[in-house]
Amino acid sequence: MRWRLDSRPMEASLAKAVGFERLQAMAEGMVPRGVAVVCRDPDGDVGALFAEERLAIGRAVPRRQAEFAAGRMAAREALGMLGQPPLCIPAGADRAPVWPQGFAGSISHCRGAVVAAAVRGGSHIGIDVEEAVPLEDELWDTVCTPKELEWLKAQGGLWAKVIFSAKEAVYKAQYSIAGRVLEFSEVELTLDQAGCFSARVLVDSALAVEGRFGISDDFVLSFARARRL
Ligand SMILES: CC(C)(COP(=O)(O)OP(=O)(O)OC[C@H]1O[C@@H](n2cnc3c(N)ncnc32)[C@H](O)[C@@H]1OP(=O)(O)O)[C@@H](O)C(=O)NCCC(=O)NCCS
Repeated sequence: MRWRLDSRPMEASLAKAVGFERLQAMAEGMVPRGVAVVCRDPDGDVGALFAEERLAIGRAVPRRQAEFAAGRMAAREALGMLGQPPLCIPAGADRAPVWPQGFAGSISHCRGAVVAAAVRGGSHIGIDVEEAVPLEDELWDTVCTPKELEWLKAQGGLWAKVIFSAKEAVYKAQYSIAGRVLEFSEVELTLDQAGCFSARVLVDSALAVEGRFGISDDFVLSFARARRL
């Protein structure tokens, strides 16, 4: 049997599936043992939300409702991989997800994907997904410290976007311990060739944050884990 690949929607959905498969494989390779990670289409079903979850996005535009729903579905799937039945994950007043007792996690979405990670116990994790396009030039000075800008001079392409993404993951991971709203300039990263990074939170020297990053054709993905020293 020959596959029909000549119609546009079919090509588009095929490309999407390949993109997600790669993203899922990359995510699984990045997270430590014990962390469940799920990558999905950001077009979620709002009807599948719990009533308490729906409160967070009742007045949002349809696209925002759909990405929020996709995030909750991916998060439930990740919790399911850890043996949990489908549970409500409300949003706190600060917008951070309120994970079920005994679990922690993180959610991120970008134009083409949603990613959720979940873990048992007292871990503090953060995840971030971005489209694999360079960071706009005018944002470099906001996102990067002088030392990072110096490092970027020797790099090209997507590296400023990697720094942006990794800092977003760091932010989410540290928030569940420190509850601190950070500026980009308050986090300094060191990245290595093996796809690992360490982050210094310049305003909190008692915090250690380490993570991984990955780049696929379509996405930049970052995962961070924070702990108190
Ligand atoms: C939360 C934030 C980091 C990312 O939000 P974003 O740009 O919408 O990007 P993402 O899609 O990757 O992440 C959104 C998800 O993060 C989660 N989130 C929101 N606030 C959070 C917090 N304080 N801690 C942990 N997770 C949080 C939510 O699950 C949210 O998705 P949802 O509303 O659909 O549930 C950002 O918007 C923010 O609050 N920034 C302020 C601080 C900052 O950016 N500092 C610079 C980095 S150090």
